[in-house]
Order: sequence, then structure tokens, then C-alpha cells
Amino acid sequence: MLSVLENPYVLKKGKIYRVIQEYEGVYTFFIEGQEKIKPGQYHMLYALGRGEAPITVAGKTKRGFIHTIRAVGSVTKSLVKLEAGDEIYYRGPFGNTWNLKIAYGKPLLFISGGLGLAANKFPFEVALQNRSKFSSLIHLYGARDTQSLLYRYLYSKWAQNSDFQVIVERGETENLKKGLVTDLLEELTLHSDTVVFICGPEAMWKPTLRILIEKGISEERIFLSLERHMKCSIGTCGHCMIGPFFVCKDGPIFRYDQIKVFLEGGEF
Ligand SMILES: Cc1cc2nc3c(=O)[nH]c(=O)nc-3n(C[C@H](O)[C@H](O)[C@H](O)COP(=O)(O)OP(=O)(O)OC[C@H]3O[C@@H](n4cnc5c(N)ncnc54)[C@H](O)[C@@H]3O)c2cc1C
Ligand code: FES
Repeated sequence: MLSVLENPYVLKKGKIYRVIQEYEGVYTFFIEGQEKIKPGQYHMLYALGRGEAPITVAGKTKRGFIHTIRAVGSVTKSLVKLEAGDEIYYRGPFGNTWNLKIAYGKPLLFISGGLGLAANKFPFEVALQNRSKFSSLIHLYGARDTQSLLYRYLYSKWAQNSDFQVIVERGETENLKKGLVTDLLEELTLHSDTVVFICGPEAMWKPTLRILIEKGISEERIFLSLERHMKCSIGTCGHCMIGPFFVCKDGPIFRYDQIKVFLEGGEF
């Protein structure tokens, strides 16, 4: 029988000590808790009487960890009402991690779309702390408009030690480039051993993957973070399956060549 500490169904308690509103409906929560968490992993956050939602860990702090939550439905709308001083209940961390070591000595490229920046933030910050291990560090981030930019307060810090580029699709650009994240990608000259971490809406994947392949990046060097509906988060309920894989425990991060035949519409 599992002890309480090992039982993945037992809820843990954290305390929220800071909340930042990123933009309408999207909030970043700073939570006290001493967890061993790897970049890419997620927690199942619990909303009383509503249920659970998988939410990526968007970073670590001295006091604990960070989550950025977009209110879309019953669980997340309830979670974003929490305030500093409130308790928050969660399970995990669950899932695999971005393999930063595979990019040691090579160029590392992050491509983030929309809320996907929340999942790429933690590995990117670890890469920034270990900047000398990568021959170059580029991060391309595309958002819908300037009102829906995440983590604006971090851009100047990030840009000191990397080539961090932002593009917005429409509206006022505030001196930012206008267009899609793939426009930024088209402009890059990539070395063939570049390792790429992608997180964003699935609509972004197809053109992004096409450009990367055209630029000579092999499928084994491209990693994607997948989103699927999850219930158990430990590979028992089958809600999250893609082909033979459980996104909850084999993922959420997959090498493109290993999952491409199972993606909707087949290989991109
Ligand atoms: C591994 C993983 C990590 C995630 N990390 C984050 C994160 O860091 N921050 C975050 O805000 N969300 C994240 N998500 C998405 C989040 O889990 C869902 O938005 C959440 O489960 C929705 O639950 P709900 O009860 O609030 O909405 P539901 O009642 O389940 O859904 C309400 C409506 O929103 C739609 N919806 C549900 N999920 C999504 C989605 N992912 N995107 C767009 N529309 C959706 C539904 O189709 C429905 O129309 C992650 C998902 C996974 C699988
Ligand atoms: S969420 Fe239950 S098997 Fe993945």
C-alpha cells in the first residue's frame, strides 16, 4: 500500500504569497512550497467543488513555485479568484522534463505562442542561468496583441543574456514587430544542430515545423509540449492518450519524430 507521501492522489497544500494579473483573465500565482520540480512538469491544481486542471509550473522561486492560469472554464475560473494569503491545493509534480542537456554545446531555440510561453518560461530561465552551456540562445514569442503579452516585466532581463524576440499579430504594436511567430522564424539562419523547444497552440505547429524542416533541422531535434484532457495524471484513466503514449506521464513533452504519426491529421 502507498504511504500518504507517495500516494499521487493525496492533495498537498500551498500558500499563495503574490498574484500578478498578466492581462484580462490570466493571472500568475506565486506559491510557497518546497517541491522538487523539473522544467516542463505540471501540477494538478484543485478548485474546491469543481475539480482539477493540469497547469504547468512556470518557474521556481526561493520560496516555492509559479503558475500562470488562464480562466477558460469551471476549474480555472474558480482558481483565478484566489488571492495572496489564500491556500491552494494541488497534486504532483507530474510529467517529464525538457531535455536541456541534449542542447549542451549547441544552439538552443525556444518557440512560444500565446500562453505557451508559460510552459517555455521555466526551461528558458534555467537555460539563461546556464547560458555558457549553449552556443546560442534564442527565444521567439508570438502573441495575439500587446494586451495579451505575458511576463512583460521580464523581457529586458531575458534579453540581456539571449536573443529574445517578440511579435504581435494585430492592433497597436508599441514598437514591436507585427506578424506571426513564424515570420520571426523565417528570418533566422539556423545551424543544423539547433535544438528546438516548441510550446503553443496546435495551429502554430504545422507552419513552424515546416519551416524548421526546410531550414535543415532534423525531427529528432524538435520537441513539442502537448495538451490533452487529463483526469488521473498517472496513466490509469486513459483520457490523455495519443497513440500508445500517455501525455500525462510519458509527456507532456515529446520528440516530434516519436509522435508525428499520432498527431491529428497525421504527419505535418
Ligand atoms: C500538461 C498541461 C499543462 C497545462 N498548463 C497550463 C497552464 O500553465 N496554464 C493554463 O492556463 N492552462 C494550462 N493547461 C490547460 C488547462 O489545463 C485547461 O485550460 C483546463 O484544464 C481547463 O479546465 P476548466 O475546468 O477551467 O475548463 P473546462 O470546463 O474543461 O473547459 C471550458 C472551455 O475551455 C475549453 N478549454 C479547455 N481546455 C482548454 C485549453 N487547454 N485551451 C483552450 N481552451 C480550453 C474547453 O473546450 C471548453 O470550451 C495545461 C494543460 C495541460 C494538459
Ligand atoms: S490523465 Fe489519466 S491516463 Fe493520462
